[in-house]
Formats: sequence, structure tokens, C-alpha cells
Amino acid sequence: MFKSLIVGNWKMHGTAQTAVNLATQLAEDWNADNEVEMVVFPPFVHISAVAAAVAKSAISIGAQNVSEYSAGAYTGETSAEMLVDQGCKYALVGHSERRALQNESSETVAEKFIAAQNAGLIPILCVGESLQQRQNNQTVEVVSGQIAAVIERAGLQNVCRAVIAYEPVWAVGTGETATPEQAQQVHSAIRAQLGEAGTATPLLYGGSVNAANAADLFAQPDINGGLVGGASLEAVEFLNIAKLIEA
Ligand code: 13P
Repeated sequence: MFKSLIVGNWKMHGTAQTAVNLATQLAEDWNADNEVEMVVFPPFVHISAVAAAVAKSAISIGAQNVSEYSAGAYTGETSAEMLVDQGCKYALVGHSERRALQNESSETVAEKFIAAQNAGLIPILCVGESLQQRQNNQTVEVVSGQIAAVIERAGLQNVCRAVIAYEPVWAVGTGETATPEQAQQVHSAIRAQLGEAGTATPLLYGGSVNAANAADLFAQPDINGGLVGGASLEAVEFLNIAKLIEA
């Protein structure tokens, strides 16, 4: 079934207490009958506390990263199985901050995607171009290349049963958002790349989404929800954004 998603990526913010408070506020307000699925991505150390806080609600939990390895001597890493064990349903792979700051290559991202899916997590594959790449008219080439690297290793069918999030790097955390037309153009190129197998794959937009710009973005035919950073740290703002998504 086709599904719309509203995803909050909390990045490296908050204490266990603020995370639980935020999750509790969301859980109190979010309607379980809604056809839009809400997912929050707390920092790893807060996952189990947040999972407990939303246990009786319709809110799902995701992990901001996942190891490409299933177990072993990988100090500081967390396997997909461990994340499932803590109550995660989703995992972000290839977020632009990890590609840039942790030097994650498209190959590593593909390995993480496969590890997540093998353990039963739903990967949210993040893709997006830099400002320079956009100015050089390479946007679709860059995004389709990032997706192709995962298709090559994981297979098209497996990519199509995941979620893809288009997050232009220049719009992440900058207050600058892609226009609805810019976003739709990339989303329709992704939809075309996935072909028949990807007609029901949720495609999310991320990059400075807020309650003021979300409605126009979510009205685009190939935008099936949002991946929200800063604005997901405020319960009321995030709920307002979530309510703008049409299932
Ligand atoms: P902002 O909404 O803060 O721009 O972050 C977007 C993002 O990176 C979500 O993963």
C-alpha cells in the first residue's frame, strides 16, 4: 500500500529527558488512524527511552545510521540487529552529513542499505547534490548516480521497497529550501529511474522544511512526505508540518 511519511531527524540534539518529553508530546497528539506514518530518529543513546515513550502510539522509531557489518570487532558501531532489538523500524543511510563528515562513499552507503534491509529495517536512502553540482546542472546526474550505486549492489526491487529521501545539500540546515518545482523535478526523475517497480516507493523531500513551506512541497505529485531536521525538535511545529501531508 502506498504510504506517506513524516520523518523527524533529531540529529545530535537533546538529553534523554528532552527526547522523552518531545516523544511524549508527539504521541499525545498524533492520531493512530492517520494514513500518514510518523517516524522519529533520536540519537542512538535515547532510542530505547523514546521507544518506550511512544510504545502505545502509532509513532515509529528509526536510527540515524547503521553499521554495514552484522557483528564483530567494530568499536563504536551499532548493527542493524541491535537497532531492531531496540525497537527501530527504519534506518537512515547516506545522510549528506555522514557522506561529507564521515566520508561515506556510495559503496559504503549501499552496504549499509543491504545490512539494514537484511535485518528487517526499512532503509531511508538519502541523496542530494551540492550547491556547486546544482549550479553546474549536475543535479539529476548526481542523484541518479547515488541511487544507481545502491541499485547495483542491492538490486532494483530491494531499493523500490525502501524509502528514498531527496535532500539537496545546500538546503540542509541552511534555511534555504528547494522550490516545490525544483524538488518535484528531481522527484519525478527518481520516479522515472525506479520505473514500474517504484510506483509505490515513498519519496521524501528534506532540507529546511517548516510549517510555512511544507504545504506547497507536499502538494507536488511525487513528494510523499518530508524528512525534517531542525523543525522536528519542536513538537508543535513538527505536528503542524505532519498535518499538512495528504495521505
Ligand atoms: P533541516 O530540516 O534542519 O534542514 O535538516 C534536514 C535534514 O538533514 C533531515 O535529515
